[in-house]
Amino acid sequence: MQISDRYFARGREFLGVETPILCGGMTWISNAQLVSAVANAGGFGCLAGGNSPAAILEAEILKTRELTDRPFAVNLVTIAPAFEEQLEVVCKLRPQYVVFAGSFPNARQVEMMKELGAKVLCFASTLSIAQRMIRYGADALVLEGMEAGGHVGHVSLTVLLQQVLFEVPQVPVFVAGGIATGRMCAHMFLMGAAGVQLGTRFAVATESCAHARFKEKFRKANARDAVSTPQFDSRLPVVAVRALRNAGLEDFARLQLDLIAQLDAGTIHREAAQLEVERFWMGALRRAVQEGDIDKGSLMAGQSVGLVSREESVADILADLCSGIETEMQAVRARLLPEA
Ligand SMILES: Cc1cc2nc3c(=O)[nH]c(=O)nc-3n(C[C@H](O)[C@H](O)[C@H](O)COP(=O)(O)O)c2cc1C
Repeated sequence: MQISDRYFARGREFLGVETPILCGGMTWISNAQLVSAVANAGGFGCLAGGNSPAAILEAEILKTRELTDRPFAVNLVTIAPAFEEQLEVVCKLRPQYVVFAGSFPNARQVEMMKELGAKVLCFASTLSIAQRMIRYGADALVLEGMEAGGHVGHVSLTVLLQQVLFEVPQVPVFVAGGIATGRMCAHMFLMGAAGVQLGTRFAVATESCAHARFKEKFRKANARDAVSTPQFDSRLPVVAVRALRNAGLEDFARLQLDLIAQLDAGTIHREAAQLEVERFWMGALRRAVQEGDIDKGSLMAGQSVGLVSREESVADILADLCSGIETEMQAVRARLLPEA
């Protein structure tokens, strides 16, 4: 028996897998191919509903079931255009696990999933939201720090651990954002996490469908290249996304400054300006992931990109994480109990 077995127990039981390491739902990337590869290697994959039309999500769920008989989750973004139709697909196909992402689900949506027999995971960005999600019936929580790739909150994982993980013993808590090494995972388990969720490192996996140019950008990027979208004026709110700096990001900054100048001059209505802000990134992640448009597309990546330097298979990533976890736990034990 390894030391990590004791720390894996809660996540293993909840997720029904050997290794409580999650590959997070990543829009356009976490498809049947990646999710089944993670499941077959002993981890836990989250199929991304993202912006997919409901029919595509349905096909991906069915395809994942063909490729693996192990558990996986469906990740639904509550603010996605097809969210309601995606919910109907979920009701029809009854996945074992549902992750609500984007914003927070309402009590009825959580209840609906539970009536279907699914275990529900919800993101929590504060202690009061965590408590509300548990009241609604969430079976587990995901804490994601602002270091993460994709849509992000404003608080680092270090602070969320203290505000939420340390205060919520009643349900398993999975932690995400900035994690890419087994050594770091070990400390998350030691702090009480039931498991860890990674996105950026899996986006570069061999089984990830991301375009070769997208993966190459990730392999070469430094942590500081993964920046959160700037917002310059409260009249033009921007949904924060962490992505690699590129020409698209600079164009977006220029667009905002131009719109602010027009607002000041009274030559544009606020609603029209806001629409331009919202339209700017439409389809940009898909263009980067599928077409390899690394200049104007959205290269969503976490700061952990600075820890990713090569493409590896999902099985190698999980094996490397697990051996790093065990080595670090043994080192911690040796430091704590030098005489043992
Ligand atoms: C390209 C990309 C797309 C993402 N899309 C989603 C998504 O659709 N739903 C979601 O819950 N999280 C999404 N995320 C967040 C990941 O699931 C995961 O929580 C995050 O990447 C963890 O932090 P890391 O990037 O430092 O590993 C995305 C992340 C990336 C990099």
